[in-house]
Amino acid sequence: MRILTGLQPSGKLHIGNYFGAMEPAVRLQEQGEAFYFIANYHAMTTVRDADALRDHTRELAIDFLACGLDPERSVFFRQSDVPEVNELAWILSSVCPVSMLEKAHSYKDKTAKGIAPTHGLFAYPVLMAADILLYDSNLVPVGRDQKQHLEMTRDLAGKINDAYGEDTLVVPEPMISESMAVVPGLDGQKMSKSYHNTLPLFGDEKPSKKLIMRIKTDSTPVEDPKPVDGSLILPLFRLFASEEDYAKMVADHQSGGVGYGDFKKRLAEAYWEYFAPMRQRREELLADPGYVDEVLAKGAGRAREEAAKVIDRVRKAVGLA
Ligand code: ADP
Ligand code: TRP
Repeated sequence: MRILTGLQPSGKLHIGNYFGAMEPAVRLQEQGEAFYFIANYHAMTTVRDADALRDHTRELAIDFLACGLDPERSVFFRQSDVPEVNELAWILSSVCPVSMLEKAHSYKDKTAKGIAPTHGLFAYPVLMAADILLYDSNLVPVGRDQKQHLEMTRDLAGKINDAYGEDTLVVPEPMISESMAVVPGLDGQKMSKSYHNTLPLFGDEKPSKKLIMRIKTDSTPVEDPKPVDGSLILPLFRLFASEEDYAKMVADHQSGGVGYGDFKKRLAEAYWEYFAPMRQRREELLADPGYVDEVLAKGAGRAREEAAKVIDRVRKAVGLA
């Protein structure tokens, strides 16, 4: 089974990205042949600065490896290292009704947020379909916000297969993490870089812990019991703490006698410790840039090999070869 997913290099990662995207992707490596890539062509729809795009791409490569992506087991590459994806995107474009793209929520949401309404942004789902179909992917794990893109991908594969033969493209199955709890931000909304409520995955110690110490709490006196429902501290603590420590924190809320400052300190410590092995691995990767280049070059080679098979098959099927 081939599992494929892509992540956009759009800035520093937060712990919502970790629990919602990286950690599940790392776990899925056990279940099949994983193809994971950095969607740098897609990032061009929002990142206009060449150095920023390069830096974010590299940072994402390092962070993903630090989180446990195993380049011996999985194929890890940059989207732009397999330019064949653009050819497949063109072929898909030629069967893609404009009305399909006009219904895309992501386009409407992004332009509403002020992102330039370019052709690239409009055609984003077609390139994403090409990403998936170019590798005969079977399973595509994504967040809920990508569900419609997966439906479009299946639709486009179906249109190609109807026009040119059933064996032209493999129709993928989405794996939507509905059950994946959304990581709450420091203000209680969904954690997201657009809400400025994030806890960084790999931030510096003092400023990161300070963010936790600044979480808003009510004015219950130290000696009184504290509300458990609606707590901003408990759901975050649960991500990092053992069952036992979590139960103790709940009990200390209910009994009273412990202040919010103490709870926040426990949360800050648990958060810092949880990512310690990954932070360590990241330091090693930062010190060895040649290794990261090597991983990406090897991944690009493997990905291109697979892409060549599919693009040859498609070129023949549609009459380009
Ligand atoms: P942001 O909302 O910060 O812009 P992205 O939309 O770039 O994050 O998300 C990248 C990946 O991280 C996606 O797979 C998304 O589902 C996941 N993700 C982002 N925020 C959260 C969150 N708060 N909880 C769970 N997963 C998240
Ligand atoms: N659109 C995805 C996101 O913003 C990233 C992405 C690009 C992707 N191509 C993909 C995800 C192919 C899965 C498969 O999160």
